[in-house]
Amino acid sequence: MTQPTHGGNVYKVAREQRIPVDRIMDFSASINPLGPPAVGLHAIRSALKQIVHYPDPDCWKLRQALAQQCGVDPDMILVGNGSTELIHLLPRALAIKSALIMGPTFAEYARALTDAGSSVQYVHARREECFRPSLKEVLHQLSAKRSRFDAVVLCNPNNPTGQVMNRLAVRELAEVVDRQQGWLIVDEAFIDYCQTQSVVSMLSEYPRMMVLRSLTKFYAMPGLRIGYLVGARKVVEQLKDRQPPWSVNSLAQEVSLAVLHDHVYVTRSRTFMKSERSRFMRGLRSLSGIRVFPSAANFVLIELPTSTCAKEVTDRLADERLLVRDCSTVPGLTTQMIRVAIRTAKENRRLITALGACLTKKQS
Ligand SMILES: Cc1ncc(COP(=O)(O)O)c(C=O)c1O
Repeated sequence: MTQPTHGGNVYKVAREQRIPVDRIMDFSASINPLGPPAVGLHAIRSALKQIVHYPDPDCWKLRQALAQQCGVDPDMILVGNGSTELIHLLPRALAIKSALIMGPTFAEYARALTDAGSSVQYVHARREECFRPSLKEVLHQLSAKRSRFDAVVLCNPNNPTGQVMNRLAVRELAEVVDRQQGWLIVDEAFIDYCQTQSVVSMLSEYPRMMVLRSLTKFYAMPGLRIGYLVGARKVVEQLKDRQPPWSVNSLAQEVSLAVLHDHVYVTRSRTFMKSERSRFMRGLRSLSGIRVFPSAANFVLIELPTSTCAKEVTDRLADERLLVRDCSTVPGLTTQMIRVAIRTAKENRRLITALGACLTKKQS
C-alpha cells in the first residue's frame, strides 16, 4: 500500500534544496508555534540519565497523570508512540473489517484500516456547507439496509477542514453506533484548542467509544512521538496485548508528564491561537480569489482560484522555503485545496505576502 502524504517533511525539502532544516518555515504540519514548554526541555535534560534502562512499559506515572486530567481510571488509558501507533493498532486488535470514515479527513485512518484488511467507506462533508460534518448523512448511511459497520471514525476537530462536531451530535452518533454494536473512534488530536467539546466524559455511557489524543501538536514535540487512547478497560487491555513492548521511550514519558502540569502554557497557547487565527484569516481573506474556510483548530483550509492547482502553489512556496500542505490527494477535497498551519504573527505575514505574490504572478 502506498504511503499517504503528510505535512512536516522538512528533511526532504532541506535535502532537495541543500539547505539546513531550520531555514524552512513549516506551515505543513500543525504544530504549536510557541514551541515546547520550557519545563519539557528541562525534563528531557533531567531524564537523560534514565536512558540506560528500558522505558516503563506500562507508562505508569504518565497514565496516572493523564487519567487524573481526563477524570477516568488509569486502566482506561493506553499510551502510544504518537497517536499514529494507536490508529494502526486499533483495526488489527479489534479485528475491524468494515469502517465508515467521516471525511474529508486525515488519510492515516484509511491506511491503517485497509492495511488490517478492513473495507472503508466515506461520508464526506460538503464544500458548499463549509465542510460542516453532517450528522444526518452519517445516520442515514448507518441506517441503510445491509450497511453495518464494525467502526465509525470521526476526527474532531477535523483535520484538514477545521470543523467541529458538537457534543450533542457526537452523543447522538455514539448512541446509534453503540446500538449497532460498532466501535466509535473519535480522534481529538487537535481538541486542546477547543477543549469544551471533548467527549471523554461520555465514555462511561458509551463503552464502545474510544478517544484518541496527541501530545505532539499542542506541546510542539512531534519529534518525540507521544499520544494516548482513552477507552473501556477491556478494550485498553486488548489493545495493550497487541502493542509492541517499550514503544514509548522514557524521554517522551518524562517530558509529557512535565508538560501536562504547565497550565500557564495551555492558557497562553489558547489565547495566542484565538487572536492569531482571526488575524491570520483576515489577512488571507484579503487575497483575491481564494476561499478561506472557518476553523476551530490551529490550521486553515484554503481553496485556491480555479485557474491554479494546489501542487503548483505548494511547489512555488517551497522554492521560497515555505512549506504548506497540498490537500489535493485527500479524498473528498479538490485539486485546489491547501492547508496551512497558524504560526507566529511574523511568519504568517510572510506566508500571506508570498501566497499573494504567487497568485498575482499566476494571474498576470
Ligand atoms: C488528526 C490527526 N490525528 C493523529 C495524528 C498523529 O499524531 P501523532 O502521531 O503525532 O500523535 C495526526 C498527525 O498529523 C493528525 O492530523
